[in-house]
Amino acid sequence: MRTPVYIANWKMFHSLETADAWLNWWFTHPLIDPPGNCATIVCPPSPLLYPMFSELQRWRHDELRLGGQALHHSFKGAFTGDVSGVALWSVGAQAVLVGHSERRHQHKETDDQIAEMMRQAYLCGLMPMLCIGETQDERDSGDTVSVLVRQLSTALASIDATTFAHRQGDPDLPTLVIAYEPIWAIGTGRSATAPLAQEALAVIEHWLIEKYGEVEVGKMSLVYGGSVTADNVATFTALPECDGVLVGGASLDPGQFQGSSSRDDGAGDWGDGRASGEFDRDGREALAWISSSDESERP
Ligand code: PGA
Repeated sequence: MRTPVYIANWKMFHSLETADAWLNWWFTHPLIDPPGNCATIVCPPSPLLYPMFSELQRWRHDELRLGGQALHHSFKGAFTGDVSGVALWSVGAQAVLVGHSERRHQHKETDDQIAEMMRQAYLCGLMPMLCIGETQDERDSGDTVSVLVRQLSTALASIDATTFAHRQGDPDLPTLVIAYEPIWAIGTGRSATAPLAQEALAVIEHWLIEKYGEVEVGKMSLVYGGSVTADNVATFTALPECDGVLVGGASLDPGQFQGSSSRDDGAGDWGDGRASGEFDRDGREALAWISSSDESERP
C-alpha cells in the first residue's frame, strides 16, 4: 500500500503567535485513531519553519513534518526574497511544494524552472510535492490530459530511478508526491467531483507507471487538492488511485485539518472535522482574521 499523505498548505496565512496556537491545539488534542504509517506535512510560510521545528522537537513530536511552500530553481545566488532548498532543509523542512498553481501563475514559474526545482529538492534532501492541474479553459477545451502530461514530462524530465535510489532525507517518506490540483477548484469552494478527480489521477498514475514501473510508483503517493474540507475529504480518499489530500483553506484551523485528513477506508479517523473551538476561545481570534480577505478585520 502506498503511504497516505496529508498536506496542510497555509499559504500566506498565520503568524508566529497563531502558528504556536495551532500547534498547541494539535498537541493537546490527541488523534482519535491516527492512521498508521502516514505522513502529515504542514507547509507554513518560510519564517515560521524554524520556530515550528523547535516546537515539534520540544514536544518530541514526530507525527507532524514540515514542508516549504516553494523553493528557488538555483542552489544559491543573488535572488533577493527567494528561498533555496538548502535553506529550507536547514530549518527543518523535509518536503517542499513544487509548481503550486499560485506560484506558476502569480510568480510566472515556468515548466523548465519547475524541472530545476525538482532537481534542487532532491539535491537538498527534500521530498518534492509536485502540483499539477488544468485551468477551467483548458478543461473546457478538452486539454486536461495533455496539460497533465506536459506538466509531468517537463517537471520529471531529469528525475529517474537513480534519483530515488540516492535521495537523502527521511526514508519513511514517499519518493515523490504528485498533487492533482485542478486550478478551478483551488480556493473556490468548488471541489472536483469524484469521477473527475479519479480520471485525472488515473492518467497521472498510468503516466508514472509507464515512466518508472509499478515498483517505483508503489513508493510514491498521489493526492488530490482543491477545496478539500472535512465534509468532502472521503470523496477523494475513497478513490483507489488517491493516497491523501492537499488542504489549503481548511488547514488553517487544526480541528478542520484533522477532520480533512480522515479516511473512510478503515485506515484511521482523525477527528470529526469541527473547527477547534478552543483555538478561538483562547482569545487569539486568529482564525477570524487570518481566514478573512479584509485586513481591516485584523485585531
Ligand atoms: P484550497 O487550497 O484547499 O484552499 O482550495 C488548495 C491548495 O493550496 O492547493
